[in-house]
Amino acid sequence: MHTVIGLSLTNMNSYMRKEIIIIFCCLFNMACLGQSTSMASKPLMGWMSWNFFAEKVNELELKEMATAMIQSGLVDAGYNYIFIDDGWQGGRDMKNNIIADPAKFPSGIKAFADFLHGKGMKLGIYSDAAQLTCAGYTASLNFEEQDAKTFAEWGIDYLKYDYCNAPADSNTAKLRYQKMAEALKKTGRPIVFGICEWGERKPWNWAAGVGGQLWRTTHDIRDKWVKKPNEKWGLGILDILETNATLNEFAGPGRWNDADMLVVGLYGKKGPSGDGGGIGCTDIEYESQFSLWAMMCSPLYASNDIRKMNEATKSILLNKEVININQDSLGIQAVQKENDGSLSIFLKSLSNGDYALAILNKLDCSIPLILDFSKLGLEGNFQIRDLWEHKTITKSDLKKQMILSHQTKLYRFVKSN
Ligand code: GLA
Repeated sequence: MHTVIGLSLTNMNSYMRKEIIIIFCCLFNMACLGQSTSMASKPLMGWMSWNFFAEKVNELELKEMATAMIQSGLVDAGYNYIFIDDGWQGGRDMKNNIIADPAKFPSGIKAFADFLHGKGMKLGIYSDAAQLTCAGYTASLNFEEQDAKTFAEWGIDYLKYDYCNAPADSNTAKLRYQKMAEALKKTGRPIVFGICEWGERKPWNWAAGVGGQLWRTTHDIRDKWVKKPNEKWGLGILDILETNATLNEFAGPGRWNDADMLVVGLYGKKGPSGDGGGIGCTDIEYESQFSLWAMMCSPLYASNDIRKMNEATKSILLNKEVININQDSLGIQAVQKENDGSLSIFLKSLSNGDYALAILNKLDCSIPLILDFSKLGLEGNFQIRDLWEHKTITKSDLKKQMILSHQTKLYRFVKSN
């Protein structure tokens, strides 16, 4: 193999040689670290149980949710995972095997995984790198191999691994995550590993190295636009954006910054994502979250009641043109080109030389859209698609646009010759 590469390299110009060498180095690194970009080569999409059911997660309603995901077109649009979050556990059996709560999952998790696989869907599950999870259920510390084996036998495709009740230091976190990553790998089943320590130990610097394909970058999202100055808990869309947007250099296929669940369509529902009795976000704000999460290559986990979605929620979650931005094969997280108290501008490189441009108005009033194309490097020949209006527009149309308060305008610049 060495000779073949050597021979072909001599016939190439230096630019091509450099590219080839970079590609081989990457492949070599991935092989050595045992990482596979085929796992989570695109940001995951699906529905996560925590915001809606919290601990009351159960087999019957999850099946209803899966059926609603299929019927509403969400599965066809790419949302193929159901992620069971905390609360499914029923302790351990006589042999210390972790078991599901028999009242919540009378048929067992394997039966649910089989049901989903039969519909072309996948199943995620949740555990924690301590003895107890965040909600106080049985977790996996010191049972990593045994639990990973159980998850593999059940047919699990993804593990969200939380960090409640575990020591605060980074070294312990890295060791505990690595231990579970290795246990998962040992099962031989490809199980995507999601690291959830809320960004406290800067996991973007080490999570891929210890075997994670994605990592939460912040504390939990709430159904609100922004945290109020006196509030201790609960981040809004804007708070998470401010952190996650700066981490673009760490993301890529098989290694994603996870900005937490979509709150789209929750409309102030009480529960873990509730805004202390508030009314939640507006549809414009939900649209913004969807656009911005897509631009940042964050996983797209819906968390609303899929069985009862209104038209606005459907048109957001099922916006295929925006989903395509998130799922673009290059997997490049948007670069934040501008950010001040009023505007944030993001540019995302897409395959085929296309770009996605997002402009967020953070102010409480509408403002006219003023763009400097040369500063953004968008001066070539492009067709412009408005991804919320679903129409092609011209550069002069763009200059006439107003951006509503908290709205994100999203455009695809389609390369044309
Ligand atoms: C933590 C996580 C949440 C959720 C809960 C479950 O708070 O960050 O996403 O999984 O635990 O208890």
